[in-house]
Amino acid sequence: MNAFTFTTSKSIICESGAASRLGEICAEQGFRSALLITDPGIEKLQLHQTSVQSLESAHISTTLYCDVVADPPESVVLTALDIAKSANVDVIIGFGGGSSMDVAKLIALLAHPTSEQTLADIYGVGNAKGKRLPLIQIPTTAGTGSEVTQVAIVTTGETTKMGAVTPLFLPDIAILDAELTTGLPPHVTAATGVDAMVHAIEAYTSKLRKNPMSDLVAKEGLRLMAGSIRTAVHEGSNKKAREDMLLGAMLAGQAFANAPVAAVHALAYPLGGHFHIPHGLSNSLVLPHVMRFNANEAASLYAELTPIILQDNNLCGTDDDITKQLIDGIEALIKELKLPTTLKEMNVPKDFLPTLANDAMLQQRLLINNPREVTYESALAIYRSAYE
Ligand SMILES: NC(=O)c1ccc[n+]([C@@H]2O[C@H](COP(=O)([O-])OP(=O)(O)OC[C@H]3O[C@@H](n4cnc5c(N)ncnc54)[C@H](O)[C@@H]3O)[C@@H](O)[C@H]2O)c1
Ligand SMILES: [Fe+2]
Repeated sequence: MNAFTFTTSKSIICESGAASRLGEICAEQGFRSALLITDPGIEKLQLHQTSVQSLESAHISTTLYCDVVADPPESVVLTALDIAKSANVDVIIGFGGGSSMDVAKLIALLAHPTSEQTLADIYGVGNAKGKRLPLIQIPTTAGTGSEVTQVAIVTTGETTKMGAVTPLFLPDIAILDAELTTGLPPHVTAATGVDAMVHAIEAYTSKLRKNPMSDLVAKEGLRLMAGSIRTAVHEGSNKKAREDMLLGAMLAGQAFANAPVAAVHALAYPLGGHFHIPHGLSNSLVLPHVMRFNANEAASLYAELTPIILQDNNLCGTDDDITKQLIDGIEALIKELKLPTTLKEMNVPKDFLPTLANDAMLQQRLLINNPREVTYESALAIYRSAYE
């Protein structure tokens, strides 16, 4: 067996309603002053209300920062950092989707009293040093798996993002409370859900660090999500479907945190950067085309995932036949979820495809994990097939 390391968050509480016990959970840890980081959408819905009430009931002084924007820019991180420092908080709580959780990771690190690093110092892999404040993550989308990943992503320019990667970003506690996700709109549920499924698929075919534990969590995550994504999108209040999606996305997060994602994400990022297409949708637009490109090299692995994703144990044929059925099935699923399926629909100009291909080639950190080597020409061919 190849040697491997599997790292994840210290404690995971998976319990409907657990967010309203946040005060109790913090009091058990001896925290006295919390900063809860979220976004204006969640503030408007008052999704964080029962958590804040429980903090107050537990006599934990609570500061709110509700101004995270999607794909957070550096300015958001710096403002939240000032607030954390001046309130002298002893625990950081990320409450929301990947955007709020990523900001919370950075604040937990940079607001630690002994921290001497700036945001610019910690971009890249393993550059963060020292200690962080205690960190609790409460996801409200079933997508990024940020509650179990070592990554925080910040928008640094018009079309560019930077990532910081460190085990310090794994929280002390992740709270998975599916009740928080029942109001997630259908199009966000669909896009973030497909993103999470891509995390599991790409982890399972990841070339360098795929391992028995990442395989296990990828398959279980896919089983839960493939069985429930349609219901979660079309019948948002269905509690079981929401529980399956939230747990499934976390398991997929554990998978790709240890067996990194590859060409689907590498080709999706430039679409988000240039056209502000949401991350999950960018992935969904290129997914079937990248899988077709990978099929020769990855057919045996795709064939192992097919009965799980298609929820069908009576498939027959060669690995190539089964892989074809999988890709057709995924295309059908994307249509059922009512997600756009072509770059043309997203108003991406056809003559922009070479720029996208160039940008995708910059994502070598991800491309090295792809089961088949991606060249500029092949990236361009994939974008062309995704165009119309
Ligand atoms: N750290 C990681 O491992 C990792 C991985 C992938 C992506 N990301 C980052 O995560 C971010 C994207 O995160 P996301 O897709 O979770 O979305 P998001 O956090 O940007 O939120 C998207 C929108 O959904 C709304 N929303 C969230 N939960 C809701 C709920 N329960 N009900 C109603 N509305 C709700 C928010 O108000 C917001 O308007 C990007 O910045 C991306 O770069 C991080
Ligand atoms: Fe993703």
